[in-house]
Amino acid sequence: MEAQLDVILSPTEAFPSCDIWLVVDVLRATTTMTIFFECGGKKILPVESVEEGLALKRSLGSGWLLMGERKGLPPQGFDLGNSPLEVANACVSRYEGAIMTTTNGTRALLAAASTGAPVLIASARNALAAVDAALSLGSFIGIICAGRLGRASLDDSACAGALVDIALEKEPKALLSDGARIVHSVWCNYGRNMEEALKDASHARFLLELGFGDDIRLACQLGASASVPKLAFVNERWTVLP
Ligand code: MLT
Repeated sequence: MEAQLDVILSPTEAFPSCDIWLVVDVLRATTTMTIFFECGGKKILPVESVEEGLALKRSLGSGWLLMGERKGLPPQGFDLGNSPLEVANACVSRYEGAIMTTTNGTRALLAAASTGAPVLIASARNALAAVDAALSLGSFIGIICAGRLGRASLDDSACAGALVDIALEKEPKALLSDGARIVHSVWCNYGRNMEEALKDASHARFLLELGFGDDIRLACQLGASASVPKLAFVNERWTVLP
């Protein structure tokens, strides 16, 4: 069966029914998740709210990290923010796992989970491995861009465009939705260059102002990682596993 690619530019769009989802929040949630598992992290529990995160940390105890952000910074009582660089230096393998909440990324992940289709974590870092994994699991691939506060974002659109481009290399006859064509043209328009695309992205400028330039550098390393985290329902809770 011909491969089929559909992309939604923000979780506020209607979700098509597809065989497999790739969830993208390149700045920074899915990049952070990819690096967490690259560094030997065991599992991540994505939650909707800061309050839910704090409560879960109290019940699970000090063997668990609490990480995430609001307005780009870690809320009070959190162990870590949502910085891939910070996570890379946090010896995450020593912990049972991490509880995580971010403004857009974990919300998009939980929205994808509610569709019932398998969900994989995608970023520019694991783009090649993520597309391979998705194509091995089904022919109708959906890509969800986390976007920014319910709107489309250039950073996620460019990353989704890279995923479409990689899939087309493997499946040149793949059927593309309008959303897939839009993000692919964005990627090609920036010369298939993540750094170039992120230079124009409003969220990248926001992070630069906060001093997170190194996070953007890590997020731009296309194909640097073989880690493709997946979502599973474990002990009555959505859980991201390596
Ligand atoms: C998000 O989920 O909104 C982003 O990952 C926020 C950030 O950490 O920059």
